[in-house]
Amino acid sequence: AAPTASKAIGVSAARSFTGTARAQNKVAVVGAAGGIGQSMSLLLKLSGKIGHLSLFDIVNTPGVAADISHCNSEGKVTGHKGAEEMGTALDGADIVVIPAGVPRKPGMTRDDLFNTNASIVKGIAEQCSKSCPNACFLIISNPVNSTVPIFGDVLKANGVFNPAKLMGVTSLDVVRAKTFVAEHQGLDVSKMKVDVIGGHAGTTIIPLLSKVKGADFTEEDIKALTHRIQFGGDEVVQAKDGAGSATLSMAHAGAYFAGRVLDGLNGVKNVKECTFVECDLTDAPFFASPCTLGKDGVSKIHGFSKLTPFEQALVDDNVPTLINMAKKGSEFVKNN
Ligand code: NAI
Repeated sequence: AAPTASKAIGVSAARSFTGTARAQNKVAVVGAAGGIGQSMSLLLKLSGKIGHLSLFDIVNTPGVAADISHCNSEGKVTGHKGAEEMGTALDGADIVVIPAGVPRKPGMTRDDLFNTNASIVKGIAEQCSKSCPNACFLIISNPVNSTVPIFGDVLKANGVFNPAKLMGVTSLDVVRAKTFVAEHQGLDVSKMKVDVIGGHAGTTIIPLLSKVKGADFTEEDIKALTHRIQFGGDEVVQAKDGAGSATLSMAHAGAYFAGRVLDGLNGVKNVKECTFVECDLTDAPFFASPCTLGKDGVSKIHGFSKLTPFEQALVDDNVPTLINMAKKGSEFVKNN
């Protein structure tokens, strides 16, 4: 079905555009009607960097798309609902951002979401393999430590896996690290830089606080801040009291990261962000570290060096967890 929002916005965007180069890329959001999906789609539309923002969900996407399409920023918006429209939504996308699946409730770990989200992510990966095999895939659905390996294994089974284009979105951990450290140290949050390596669940989240420029921490500060960054998601889950997990801060983090991937695809130089990718930095098949984002996705994995004994112990302690969570994902793909 042809979404009406796209036709309307196509005309108004063409008239209102005054820049020198039109935004060309197609970005698809899968899970666009959810808590993260709606606000992230709004931020993506407002970025003005996207030629075609394609919103997919199993429910409510026509309304979300019509609503967002009225925002006076560059780019057309289309909405697609239900499995039969997923192919059209994804067709020819340059980037697919995926916040589809259930979120946590108080007392749940991200791994508790595995049973529901593993099959959702697997199904999306199957469709992506057919409709947009060359896209960059940005996975937000939890548990990221397992859903990224699941996505990768499906792409591999379909012969279309490109490790440079599959990224687990860990930018919310970086966003939290910057905020908490700036607050603690009285530093300017807009200039803050913190790398977060490892994975995206509890202690697998490893902020490299020893490398933060201009900060003065005691050992106790480092321990307390590390713990707060690792379990910052729980603060939101508890405060929302059963109504879900982080959506607004995640929407910001996801739209920011997608914008950076887009910059890289469009030839902007020195785009460096932390993301969870397939690599041999440790014995875990996937590991997050600073990466340069280029014209074909991740162009360089920077890894990490000169860790403090505290940081090295976190890496050593958490690699087995990352291996197990990846294995759980791979076994799911094998058995389903
Ligand atoms: P939500 O429940 O508000 O939205 C999820 C959306 O996914 C719903 O609109 C639902 O209809 C849709 N959906 C379900 N199955 C689908 C399918 N097969 N295809 C397309 N859409 C489908 O949940 P929320 O709060 O937006 O969270 C989404 C996911 O993001 C959760 O798994 C959550 O744990 C994760 N998350 C990840 C973070 C990260 O840092 N990577 C941070 C916060 C949440």
